[in-house]
Amino acid sequence: MPVSPVEGTSMATKLLLVLSCWAALGSAMPDPNYREYLIKTEKSQQTGGRVLLTNAEEQLSEVLQKMKQEEMESSEFPPAMHFFKAKPLINHSSLFNLLRKMPKGGALHVHDFALVDVEWLVKNVTYRQHCYVCFTDDQSVRFIFSSHQPKPIPHCSEWILLETVRAKIDNTTDLDNGLISNLTLYTDNPEAAYPNQDVVWKRFEETFLAAWGLVTYAPVFKDYFFEGLKRFNADNVMYLELRALLPQTYELNGTINDRFWTLRAYQEVLTQFVAEHSDFFGARVIFTANRGINASQLKEVIEEAVKLQREFPEIMAGFDLVGREDTGRPLWYFKEPLSLPEQLGVSLPYFFHAGETDTQGTDVDQNILDALLFNTSRIGHGFALVRHPTTKALSRKMGVAVEVCPISNQVLKLVSDLRDHPAAVLMSEGHPLVISSDDPAIFGASGLSYDFYEAFVGIAGLTSGAGTLKELAINSIRYSSLSPQQKEEALSIWQKKWDKFVVENLP
Ligand SMILES: *[C@@H]1O[C@H](CO)[C@@H](O)[C@H](O)[C@H]1NC(C)=O
Ligand SMILES: *[C@@H]1O[C@H](CO)[C@@H](O)[C@H](O)[C@H]1NC(C)=O
Ligand SMILES: *[C@@H]1O[C@H](CO)[C@@H](O)[C@H](O)[C@H]1NC(C)=O
Ligand SMILES: *[C@@H]1O[C@H](CO)[C@@H](O)[C@H](O)[C@H]1NC(C)=O
Ligand SMILES: *[C@@H]1O[C@H](CO)[C@@H](O)[C@H](O)[C@H]1NC(C)=O
Ligand SMILES: *[C@@H]1O[C@H](CO)[C@@H](O)[C@H](O)[C@H]1NC(C)=O
Ligand SMILES: *[C@@H]1O[C@H](CO)[C@@H](O)[C@H](O)[C@H]1NC(C)=O
Ligand SMILES: [Zn+2]
Repeated sequence: MPVSPVEGTSMATKLLLVLSCWAALGSAMPDPNYREYLIKTEKSQQTGGRVLLTNAEEQLSEVLQKMKQEEMESSEFPPAMHFFKAKPLINHSSLFNLLRKMPKGGALHVHDFALVDVEWLVKNVTYRQHCYVCFTDDQSVRFIFSSHQPKPIPHCSEWILLETVRAKIDNTTDLDNGLISNLTLYTDNPEAAYPNQDVVWKRFEETFLAAWGLVTYAPVFKDYFFEGLKRFNADNVMYLELRALLPQTYELNGTINDRFWTLRAYQEVLTQFVAEHSDFFGARVIFTANRGINASQLKEVIEEAVKLQREFPEIMAGFDLVGREDTGRPLWYFKEPLSLPEQLGVSLPYFFHAGETDTQGTDVDQNILDALLFNTSRIGHGFALVRHPTTKALSRKMGVAVEVCPISNQVLKLVSDLRDHPAAVLMSEGHPLVISSDDPAIFGASGLSYDFYEAFVGIAGLTSGAGTLKELAINSIRYSSLSPQQKEEALSIWQKKWDKFVVENLP
């Protein structure tokens, strides 16, 4: 809760205020002490504004602020630019490289098909045996692994074995770059390539379709998750909450594995990863369905989700709906199936994407409110939250954090200059929030650091320092789906990493 000016004022300050108001009587100049007091009050309201810092942290904070100031004064300020153009600049920023080393806690909003750089998909996965490709009517690609010539699919060329294609050409660079560009939105001239939200969302959905046959091949599915965990761990993220479609996967002999296989696969891979990387804390899965389905279809999905939740309580965190909100069905349309778990008296925590829109007053624009009415544990994006004061107050009262994904919102054209991101308002008033990266691989980012950079440098403003970073990292554990006991454990591991980070980066 923000402290009101009176509550937050000590007796001594009050006295000082009274005295200085009196002293200022008759003078036209505003009282500098009063001004100072207001500035301090406001600063204490921002994310991290009340975090008590050690001497070492104070020193680090000064370094951070100096670095930030330098970036802000540069003629090319990365958060003001499109991420695709800013990325090389960010990459060279010493502040970014410091943030990469920072223990960031958890990434609570990332999607199953967007964890690993698409170069790995092309250079590693499409070079495996039995990989076929076809070219769609609208210049995209589809892949499938098969031990024999697969049956053609609508609107796509004959399947051709990539091994055969590559054997026929001396230089595979152009082919591979073409495949890579089908799997990502990353491009040199984003403004020309993606003139509006419709175009960028269509291409965004295409990238998932293109990756589908690669990632859902059972052996690749496991490798992909393992590689994803590696990317986040290397970026000093110790915990992941994965929005996962839990697709059926397929084997080379055509066998289809169900959702239970998929969730078990996540669990097995995770166990192996943690065994090899002892300081990685873990991961949990939020089962997702596309909001394009209808209410009776969702009823079936919810029933399955309840079963999965019962069978895999350790790894399964809950349920969410994904896909473009503006063209999908609003949450309220799904009110009956979504009430099912509560009616049955079973637990299925929700983690709804909501308010990923800039259209005000539509049915979809009520999604954040409806998400809260359905007891959502967090709000994915919440881009529209600041336009709903009652809803915003409710989310604060309920302690429901917003998952802010700056690069995603920029690439998908909700905001162009990240200084204008509405999370700047949320951060200035210390609204509960975490920073996440949504679909880093599709946006040409990786892990979490690029989004941390955009949030810290572009959104949080110059007055935010080490306290802000510390609170953001702690929030990622506090607002996770972990049990209170696990949170305590994760926090103490994080604290050790943080203390080490602070000491190692003092001037
Ligand atoms: C960013 O820097 C890393 C090395 O620190 C390098 O491997 C990578 O290619 C760079 N990427 C860009 C886009 O400059
Ligand atoms: C292959 O083609 C790419 C681009 O067309 C070129 O940059 C590269 O040098 C070529 N590689 C070889 C080995 O010829
Ligand atoms: C997809 O890949 C094909 C083949 O390399 C290429 O011709 C096409 O331009 C690519 N499409 C996109 C959108 O990158
Ligand atoms: C591809 O990735 C797998 C595991 O993810 C790894 O074992 C293998 O060495 C990689 N292959 C190549 C050619 O990079
Ligand atoms: C198909 O392949 C999978 C994975 O290798 C194997 O477990 C399964 O028994 C095979 N099924 C048949 C019918 O051959
Ligand atoms: C929901 O969609 C399914 C599959 O497309 C269809 O069979 C069913 O009739 C639809 N139900 C309603 C109530 O629209
Ligand atoms: C939300 O939580 C409240 C309080 O625990 C409960 O009374 C209500 O039934 C829940 N609503 C739904 C839709 O789950
Ligand atoms: Zn998302």
